[in-house]
Amino acid sequence: MSPQRPPESLPDPAWERFRSALERALGIPLHQYKEPQMKRRLGALMQREGLANWDAFARALERPAILERVRDTLTINVSEFFRQPDRFLELRDVHLPRLMAERPRLRIWSAGCSIGCEPYSLAMLLLELDPNPRRHLLLATDVDFGALARAREGRRYLSNEVRSVPRPYLEKYFVAEPDGTYSVREEVKRLVTFRHHDLLKDPYPTDCDLIVCRNVIIYFTEAAKQHVFHGFAHALRPGGLLFVGGSEMIMRPRDLGLVPSAVNFYQRAA
Ligand SMILES: C[S@@+](CC[C@H](N)C(=O)[O-])C[C@H]1O[C@@H](n2cnc3c(N)ncnc32)[C@H](O)[C@@H]1O
Repeated sequence: MSPQRPPESLPDPAWERFRSALERALGIPLHQYKEPQMKRRLGALMQREGLANWDAFARALERPAILERVRDTLTINVSEFFRQPDRFLELRDVHLPRLMAERPRLRIWSAGCSIGCEPYSLAMLLLELDPNPRRHLLLATDVDFGALARAREGRRYLSNEVRSVPRPYLEKYFVAEPDGTYSVREEVKRLVTFRHHDLLKDPYPTDCDLIVCRNVIIYFTEAAKQHVFHGFAHALRPGGLLFVGGSEMIMRPRDLGLVPSAVNFYQRAA
């Protein structure tokens, strides 16, 4: 007797229609996201919103408030400055000084930079460590044009997005606006170059000293993860560093020429 297929693997045309509508509405490819997880989260949201089925949900995507809730549910753009501050401080105190001692002009890539909190945090570290920070290249990329537009603006950050910023940095590198939001100062903004890039389609930069890719691949399928990690291993120079998110881990990193070097950090073997 052949084993029964789980219901999630059965074709579901209504779900397929909804997913296509969602891809169009968000403007980002969703095929790399783990489908059961995505379906479960969106199914719960559909119920909360009182939407009868996937077709009704697809029509509701025209409402900006619903689309915003979908983004939040999938944590698509959720970000904050100095996410896991202890990791960023280790980067400042240990890893960046080493990389700077090895090469005077660093090539840093923040992949999946969302609304800019991550690359701007890195820019602040460069400002702290180097009197001439503009000699470094700090490239920040994302697949989502909307997130990139917000990142380029560098303003309207909410208090929960700046909650982990060390207090002296908040005073030095941000402007507290009258409406309670925060803007990043010009000296920070001009260190970052933003560009559109799809981690699953586009060629990767080369010769990077540091790649920061955090909380991007958590919902990717295994095949998509492998593609991305393989790409990062090739994009790093020997001795270069990959900085991943708190819940992300590379299985068998040595197969890719990467060596775990600290919590959430992998080094490209020489
Ligand atoms: C949860 S945010 C993480 C932001 C930031 N790295 C952080 O840790 O705070 C995930 C980001 O990955 C981006 N992303 C998703 N799929 C992508 C892909 N295929 N290529 C590039 N970026 C992608 C999303 O658009 C989103 O901005």
